[in-house]
Amino acid sequence: MTLGTASIKRLGILISGRGSNMVALAEAVQADRIPNAEIAIVISDQPNAAGLAKAQERGIETLVIERGGRARAEHDREIVSALKARAVDLVCLAGYMRMLSRDFIDAYRERILNIHPSLLPSFPGLDAQRQALDAGAKVTGCSVHFVDETLDGGPIIARRTVPINPDDTVESLSARILIEEHKLYPKVVAMLTSGGEPPS
Ligand code: GRF
Repeated sequence: MTLGTASIKRLGILISGRGSNMVALAEAVQADRIPNAEIAIVISDQPNAAGLAKAQERGIETLVIERGGRARAEHDREIVSALKARAVDLVCLAGYMRMLSRDFIDAYRERILNIHPSLLPSFPGLDAQRQALDAGAKVTGCSVHFVDETLDGGPIIARRTVPINPDDTVESLSARILIEEHKLYPKVVAMLTSGGEPPS
């Protein structure tokens, strides 16, 4: 993956809800744990996403771009033009609950990341924590991967494991996975902005 020649990489973060991974990225940029980076924009497809206020509190520009009954491609075109207008280099999906159109992926090929709460390729799609519990898995975790046309199926960059306890509920397991998500995502983005090695 190449992130262009400018020394400061501009991140565009897409959310649909709570935005805790977005906050983890913002705090890591602020603390210089993601070197050579700034967050150019946080875009939500949901006007009531709690993450919007969290971004604004941190002085980050936010934008709501609702689907509004439009075709996916048209919605995505508006998002891509907002990202391009802000010279975004790297797109981070952080709880963004929509598949991307081919044109969006082509516009940022190998420069779109997603975080998913399972050890991909196991348990892609919705309710990954419940899927892991229902399967009787002993271990699950989280993964950061490049986004392609498949559902959570693009090349995996890094993963972290989380043990499943016999008394785990979806809530308790999700909370433990989330702690690891908040560590892993900034490390992967830092690796990409600094040209280093994937985190172990
Ligand atoms: C996270 O579990 C992430 O892995 C998944 O959606 C959830 C988003 O949480 N893709 P948040 O909005 O970052 O708090």
